[in-house]
Amino acid sequence: MMGSAHSDQVTSAAQPGANVFRAIGTANRGYGQQAQEEVRRLFETKVSFRWILPNETFMMEADAAFADGLERIKRNEPVFLRHLQPVNAEIDWDGDEAALLEGIRSVIRAAGDMRSGLRAAVQIRKGERVPESAVPGQLKPAIDRLLADEWGVEPVVREADRILSLFLEAGKAFVGWSRPEDNLSDWPGGAVRFRREEGQISRAKFKLLEAELAFGLDLAGYRSALDVGAAPGGWTSLLLERGLKVTAVDPAKLDPSLLRHPRLTYYGQRADEVSFAAGSFDLLVCDMSWSPHQMAKLVLGLADALQQGGTAIITVKLMHKKALQTIREVTGVLETAFSLQKAKQLFHNREELTLFLLKK
Ligand SMILES: C[S@@+](CC[C@H](N)C(=O)[O-])C[C@H]1O[C@@H](n2cnc3c(N)ncnc32)[C@H](O)[C@@H]1O
Repeated sequence: MMGSAHSDQVTSAAQPGANVFRAIGTANRGYGQQAQEEVRRLFETKVSFRWILPNETFMMEADAAFADGLERIKRNEPVFLRHLQPVNAEIDWDGDEAALLEGIRSVIRAAGDMRSGLRAAVQIRKGERVPESAVPGQLKPAIDRLLADEWGVEPVVREADRILSLFLEAGKAFVGWSRPEDNLSDWPGGAVRFRREEGQISRAKFKLLEAELAFGLDLAGYRSALDVGAAPGGWTSLLLERGLKVTAVDPAKLDPSLLRHPRLTYYGQRADEVSFAAGSFDLLVCDMSWSPHQMAKLVLGLADALQQGGTAIITVKLMHKKALQTIREVTGVLETAFSLQKAKQLFHNREELTLFLLKK
């Protein structure tokens, strides 16, 4: 059916400033409920949720001004909320491109913050029940063209000034127009993708790469790192690539390709069997597959080796899924020596999350 482009197809318009907070939240699969619980606690008014993808992606709506809702979430960023797409408008959509483009046009006009030369990324996602074939391949180029022709916008994938997000569900399209920082991640749905390199030692490397982005760090800016639970050596290899001196501790073997590296010192021992002079390192990373409580005690035992103000990046296993309680317990143990900067379940974390701490 050829639908025509009527502005009355745009059935709701939650512009920033509007009196409803409406957004699509995404968590790692299996952690959507945790994310909802965290969001619920941030609002004084009732928040309603509807699953889009089970225990992963959901629509949320709260009786709060849009800007206020966003501010609450950004100020106290939920550990398990990976991505947030504001819903500026909901458009009836039957696969007709012209209607969708008209809806997008009215969303951007209403936002009123367009200027020539703006860099915009178009991100399209879809619900389970929308078949791949229903998302026309030419849709993204068509939106890019609309933005370029009408407003002189430069289409980009990364480092955008604005993100035009489109979530397609059966019969509906949810349109968002936002600054990347308001989405909590500038990757579609917060799914951060890194290219796998030839000879890459472990997939675990992606976790540290993502932590660097998520916590706004520059690993190359550190001098000397202690990597606890280092084998087979994905994190160690990244730190070496970034120019750091690395001390790796693990009773398991490091990948042979690393062993001759001139900036690497390797102790094939358990973390409780080694000790270092106070202030030897400015970075401590720990990715041990162990009980959170034991891991926290071990890291605390090594805390003096990290200089004051030094950074610690630590993954925490979520053994029984009582995630918020686990974070409280671990940070409770660590707080004598560290101050927690951020706890986040990264896209590359499976049954775990990552802590960013500073040494007191
Ligand atoms: C998930 S792997 C680490 C992967 C690593 N980050 C990488 O990038 O290749 C967990 C490691 O923790 C190590 N580990 C477990 N208990 C340990 C302990 N008490 N002391 C040191 N390492 C330990 C294991 O031997 C294992 O190699």
